[in-house]
Amino acid sequence: MKFFIDTANLAQIQEANDLGILDGVTTNPTLMAKEGIKGTEAIAAHYKTICEMVDGPVSAEVLGTTFEGIVEEGKNLAAIHPNIVVKVPMIKDGIKAIKWFTDHGIKTNCTLVFSAGQAILAAKAGATFVSPFIGRIDDGSWDGVQLIEQIVNIYNTQGYMTEVLAASIRNPLHIVRCAEAGADVCTCPLSSILGLLKHPLTDIGLQQFLTDAKAMQ
Ligand code: E4P
Repeated sequence: MKFFIDTANLAQIQEANDLGILDGVTTNPTLMAKEGIKGTEAIAAHYKTICEMVDGPVSAEVLGTTFEGIVEEGKNLAAIHPNIVVKVPMIKDGIKAIKWFTDHGIKTNCTLVFSAGQAILAAKAGATFVSPFIGRIDDGSWDGVQLIEQIVNIYNTQGYMTEVLAASIRNPLHIVRCAEAGADVCTCPLSSILGLLKHPLTDIGLQQFLTDAKAMQ
């Protein structure tokens, strides 16, 4: 399973990249706004910086909701850097635009996916990635990971090439469960990635080894 980081914060991207396990980045308008990025030029410059930091797909979301608007914006985003993946919402015009991007060799990430039916449509349109939001599903007391399992199963059965990108990750256990469910990619906040490091027995064991190591010197 590939690891993407779900943020537009450059320090966090750098920290995850320094671990050597980062495969890509996803952003969304909320994450970009949080970093104070405003205006077309600043947005493009920020995406370019991220692409120069991380060697892998960088999802940049369109802000429009009409077919023409999404296509126009997506073409401009894709021109920023070869690693840009155009992130398109799961709406009727979004699906039409994903098909257009597929036909024109532009990679896409179909976002805001909450059902298997939506994931089938995204795959039929040729999306490079499909992003089911598992944390937001869990927030409503449904099981987000179950949706990942279902989509992985459908894609395997049907031979769809779209990669299942588990999004809206809230904790390290989500990452483990998505790996078990066969997700191709997990996009995570830095805190969830770092949470994978933690185990009290590791800390206790290391403390003991460090103490005993003193006796060897
Ligand atoms: C996915 O690409 C989205 O950017 C993100 O994972 C949404 O996460 P949230 O539900 O924590 O906002």
